[in-house]
Amino acid sequence: MNILAFESSCDETSAAIVERLDDGELRIKSNIIASQIETHRLYGGVVPEIASRAHAEAISRITYEALSEADLSLSDVDLIAVTANPGLIGALLVGVNFAKGIAAANNIPLVAVDHIKGHAAAALLGDKDSAPKPPYLALTVSGGHTAIYLVEDYTDFKIIGTTRDDAIGEAFDKIGRIIGIPYPAGKGFDELSKKGFILATGDKEAFYSKYKKSAAYKDREMTLPSPAIADDSLDFSFSGLKTAAINLLHRFEQSGRELPRELFAARYTFEAVEAVAKKISLALALHPGLDLVLSGGVAANSHLRYRLNEVCRKAGVSLFMPPISLCGDNAAMIAAQGYYEYMKGNLADSTLNASALDSIV
Ligand code: KG4
Ligand code: ZN
Repeated sequence: MNILAFESSCDETSAAIVERLDDGELRIKSNIIASQIETHRLYGGVVPEIASRAHAEAISRITYEALSEADLSLSDVDLIAVTANPGLIGALLVGVNFAKGIAAANNIPLVAVDHIKGHAAAALLGDKDSAPKPPYLALTVSGGHTAIYLVEDYTDFKIIGTTRDDAIGEAFDKIGRIIGIPYPAGKGFDELSKKGFILATGDKEAFYSKYKKSAAYKDREMTLPSPAIADDSLDFSFSGLKTAAINLLHRFEQSGRELPRELFAARYTFEAVEAVAKKISLALALHPGLDLVLSGGVAANSHLRYRLNEVCRKAGVSLFMPPISLCGDNAAMIAAQGYYEYMKGNLADSTLNASALDSIV
């Protein structure tokens, strides 16, 4: 079975072909991603109207590329999957309308995919035996989301924890921009923090685990609040961390001192990662024996990957992390989730509409 999938919820236009093999493997045959990052970088963030236009310009070409790289034509496609929510409405509409058109013109079944479920489904791509099996917990950390889900079945997600304001990716992007890291700042922040951990611990490699004992960690001037809500909930608040960081940066500026950028990045990353580790430890304790799937653009963060590995090992459960190349927005993950929606009988038709809103409650 060949699945053609589309993703256009934010600033990446993507089309992919995923084949479902008889042994259950979901094999990526092509996964074309046209990134708009260079365009939006000029503005320091995504401009929705520009995003929609760029999707409309790219989608036919990348569909052609996805089919030709997989050596297939539309007559070989058995299912079409498309991200229908959440995201930028104008951007989503490009993918949804394009998918509806191809499905109707070629008489191919269509399924709508929730972007968040799609991110978690990145872990389902590849060999069936090494993929997680529900029930499991999924943590989605991206530019728009920071949430923990209880995945009872491949298509049945319940939210058990979320951010009450900003997402973790947004927290990296916004502060990163202020300290001069180009948009999207997540990757640059990751690298700068690595240098910060090396500086703080005096080691040749970045030893995250040694940071807490370093003199840099005890530097009161660098103190930042935890974005983990201080109660029994699984919720976060990243706006407090962001505001405190802005105040810290102002203090340095006003006193004319140069900011130790690496050490600042390390502290900021440490607080963000520790908050996630804390709430994930709690979630794993509340749901004993469930494995964890890490997903979303921020799942590429090396410090978060290291720390969650430690948390899961301690809890005696497995951590499933998609390869870095499948953490950000891509259509292969939408195809994987689309397959399970199809198996569940969740078919869409020509009345399908896009929505900016979350559908998982
Ligand atoms: O999932 P994604 O591609 O798009 C959304 O659905 O939002 O996530 C994008 C986010 C951006 O905020 C970007 O800065 C962040 O993922 N990101 C990272 C890293 N790589 C990408 N954040 C931290 N560390 C990284 N290595
Ligand atoms: Zn995403």
